[in-house]
Amino acid sequence: MSRKKAPTVLTMPLEEAMRTQRAIRRIKPDSVDDALVLHLIELALKAPTGGNRQNAEFLIIRDKRIKRKLAGLNRFAWNTYGRFWRFFARNDPKTLRTMDAVQWEADHYEDIPVIVVPCLKWSRYGPIVSGFRMPYPAFWESIYYGSIFPAVQNFLLAARAAGLGASLTVMPLWNSLLARRALGLPPWVSPIAVIPVGWPIGRYGPTTRKPVGDAVHIDRYGNRPYQGKEAAAVRPLRRATRKRRPKPGPKLRPKARPKSRKG
Ligand SMILES: Cc1cc2nc3c(=O)[nH]c(=O)nc-3n(C[C@H](O)[C@H](O)[C@H](O)COP(=O)(O)O)c2cc1C
Repeated sequence: MSRKKAPTVLTMPLEEAMRTQRAIRRIKPDSVDDALVLHLIELALKAPTGGNRQNAEFLIIRDKRIKRKLAGLNRFAWNTYGRFWRFFARNDPKTLRTMDAVQWEADHYEDIPVIVVPCLKWSRYGPIVSGFRMPYPAFWESIYYGSIFPAVQNFLLAARAAGLGASLTVMPLWNSLLARRALGLPPWVSPIAVIPVGWPIGRYGPTTRKPVGDAVHIDRYGNRPYQGKEAAAVRPLRRATRKRRPKPGPKLRPKARPKSRKG
């Protein structure tokens, strides 16, 4: 097994990491050092949590027996859900390619070097219980998932910057009782996602996302002046409509004073 040296500082520009981070499912069995995984989790933990409860926890799975159990849960969910998905996506070659990668991951699950499981731990603070999902009001749901997914995204970006491949998955958690048992979690800790991590086979390709203008409404829902546009296409337009500041006039030089004669 080849070993890559863990970088001590991630130097990839943030914009590059954000623009190229994507689900990498085909990964090598080569080992990934604990130091690097801890580095990524340390960066993940810089994310905000509701009420600053800091109730996110991460399980780092290397044990083959546990991986096997997660692999079984993942395969069951994929065999069931994937069949429907494949049927509905039968005329969509891009989605079918993604599904091939999901299948590859399912087939090689036990060989994935590290599986990171972000979890939420209940923590009480006065009347507030963080990490406990209530059915209502809706903002509790936001606090619940909002206290873990920012950390998950930080983790994915940091993994990208380190050159690691990772994919955010939930399928192994389809049955929370079985997932909890496989992971040996106490009742006060809930698994939220499962992230297989390793060195990628192949390159990181670019992500394909809809243009920002299709996801933006200005002031009121439905007002979409930038529809179909990327941010780069909008910037010159804004500049053109911005009020021009008057050009500063020519600098007035102080008049040359006649040299005073001494004496
Ligand atoms: C909440 C959530 C759950 C996901 N669950 C799975 C999953 O169980 N299995 C999987 O292969 N991908 C899963 N994904 C990854 C998405 O399929 C992936 O982000 C999407 O296809 C975009 O792919 P790209 O980032 O490579 O462009 C999940 C993503 C999110 C946000």
